[in-house]
Amino acid sequence: MRRDVDQVLVDEVAAVVGDRREAVWIAEHAEVSGLGPQGAYELARRRAAGEPLQYVLGTWPFRTLELRVDRRALVPRPETEVVTGVALDELRHRHRPSRVAVDLGTGTGAIALSLAVEAGAGAGLEVWATDWSPEALALARENVAHLADLDPVAAARVHLAAGWWFDALPTGLLGRCDLVVANPPYVTEGEHACLDPVVREWEPRSALVAGPSTSGVDGLADVEEVLVGSIRWLAQGGAVVVELAPHQADAAAALAREAGLVDVRIEHDLAGRRRMVVAHR
Ligand SMILES: C[S@@+](CC[C@H](N)C(=O)[O-])C[C@H]1O[C@@H](n2cnc3c(N)ncnc32)[C@H](O)[C@@H]1O
Repeated sequence: MRRDVDQVLVDEVAAVVGDRREAVWIAEHAEVSGLGPQGAYELARRRAAGEPLQYVLGTWPFRTLELRVDRRALVPRPETEVVTGVALDELRHRHRPSRVAVDLGTGTGAIALSLAVEAGAGAGLEVWATDWSPEALALARENVAHLADLDPVAAARVHLAAGWWFDALPTGLLGRCDLVVANPPYVTEGEHACLDPVVREWEPRSALVAGPSTSGVDGLADVEEVLVGSIRWLAQGGAVVVELAPHQADAAAALAREAGLVDVRIEHDLAGRRRMVVAHR
């Protein structure tokens, strides 16, 4: 704990939110942002009303970034940091003078901005970040603008585009992408109804819920669209990395093979859960 955080304030905030660790985050944030004690109490009241801590704070760390987060997009998760790491490894294996990476359904821009920052040095890189939601894309735009203040070269690599999965991309990228990465919706209607209220009632439903795949596996419709579309948009040898729920991994791997992708494998998150399918063209 930082010494200069007012412990009386932390105690008072903890009494409102019922969690001392969260109280420290809130008190620190209020202090760093110049909100003062009244601001801290207001944040505490929002948290006590059930709003996710990340939205209350308005920023949240993701790999090397500090991202703006709010109700317009899903809070970026730790498992997606691992997905991004796998995507970065795939991109680093592409020894080409200029590379193209695509983050479909970018939300806050978490994956795309991380690719631009972490894979950018030393080689040409163009990163396309798409979303169907105008609200999410507006938030991603704010995060690109924030990055531009810190790392203008990385921010300039990122192109935002609106639209339904691959439809958002310029056709000039057909068959030219080195990497397609996505964390698409993959929660079924039934699972959504059982989610913790802090997720179900605050995070965008359209970022979470997906219908059945063409073969009838519930929750896999968007994963399928991304895998099937990758065959047309990836360059030879390019990789697609898609996040999913552990119980969907085998069905998604089968979809990838049916789509004509090769070298299909399943990767794990830090807890050892089967968390993404990786495949190549
Ligand atoms: C699970 S969230 C992931 C957000 C972000 N990539 C992350 O990992 O934190 C899924 C995202 O996909 C977007 N999305 C949902 N359906 C889409 C579609 N058909 N085309 C493009 N984006 C879509 C949602 O708006 C949302 O931002």
